[in-house]
Amino acid sequence: MNYNGTHYRTIWPDPQDKRQICIIDQRKLPHDFIVEKVGTAEQMVTAIRDMHVRGAGLIGAAAGFGMYLAALQAPDASFDAFMAIAAKSFDASRPTARNLMWAVERILQAMAQSPDPAEKRAMAYSTACTIADEDAEFCRRIGEHGLKILEEISRKKNGAPVNILTHCNAGWLAFVDHGSATAPIYAARESGLPVHVWVDETRPWNQGSRLTAWELYQEGVANTLICDNTGGHLMQLGQVDLVIVGADRVTHTGDVVNKIGTYLKALAAKDNNVPFFVALPSSTFDWKLDNGMEIPIEQRSEEEIITLTGKDTQGELRTVLLAGKETRAANYSFDVTPARLITGLITERGIVKPERSSIHQLFPEAGHLGRTRLQDKL
Ligand code: MRU
Repeated sequence: MNYNGTHYRTIWPDPQDKRQICIIDQRKLPHDFIVEKVGTAEQMVTAIRDMHVRGAGLIGAAAGFGMYLAALQAPDASFDAFMAIAAKSFDASRPTARNLMWAVERILQAMAQSPDPAEKRAMAYSTACTIADEDAEFCRRIGEHGLKILEEISRKKNGAPVNILTHCNAGWLAFVDHGSATAPIYAARESGLPVHVWVDETRPWNQGSRLTAWELYQEGVANTLICDNTGGHLMQLGQVDLVIVGADRVTHTGDVVNKIGTYLKALAAKDNNVPFFVALPSSTFDWKLDNGMEIPIEQRSEEEIITLTGKDTQGELRTVLLAGKETRAANYSFDVTPARLITGLITERGIVKPERSSIHQLFPEAGHLGRTRLQDKL
């Protein structure tokens, strides 16, 4: 991913001191690009909960590095008990994204291979790095598979720009690199295929206006910001060729939980025969749940709806009230898009129908996954 022409990942160990993990504080974007150093598990829990880092893949990687920081803090004499408590606090920091619990569990499994605390710490570090590397690589492959969809649409349009609508930020800022929904877009740019992106603003945290529009600009991809209610109208006008969104959790039956408002876009897409794709690495699959409505939906503070913080035209940071002081708000962070509204899932192994048999055929090893959580036994 590029910022002012320099390549960055969204999370990395400080090369001078591997006990410090570097992140980009996304609360400050698009106005300020600030690298924050995180040195304890508690600080990483705060960074995830308060959304210094966000997006399914990135909070998975952050939880992986956070568990490594916890391993550095854990006393030898009570190592496993300390790590069990740390695991619970990471799991609770954001309850919806599957990648987070998946990463925590993966670190626990890796550390279980040795009884020696020093070796456990080394395993935690190497596994956290592997999680981050895999996340970037899987997103790159999602781009290769998704590019085929864009090429086909482009052919039908005789090379005219392909108009893609996306919701929230499933870009490189939501992962370690490339992004999920944006990976096919970046692959298209690389291959010279013209694309244009409609960016949903994505109230209330405004991941679209603050993050997606910014990162597409940084990457030189044509994009237009729209308010959340505009997508259906554009589809009726024939100005959306396809929708690509990310996912925070996907059941092995193909139901998708993503940022609030995704469901309404899927309904509009169905009504207008617009293909609706969901891009995800396999770490987002929930291999236990059959029904998306069983996935816990995070509710965040009403402040996020009632107030807005940003810089004024003079560059001063301000928080303003958007409603009367007495107004109460309900802030559901995600919703469920049923499999029947989804054209296909773009994964690192290819594009698959959102249905149990096809998903399991693509990931045959997943049959047993998720059934026994090591953490449950600790
Ligand atoms: O609340 P967030 O910003 O962490 O939400 C996650 C998201 O960015 C979206 O739901 C996204 O579309 C999927 S994450 C790859």
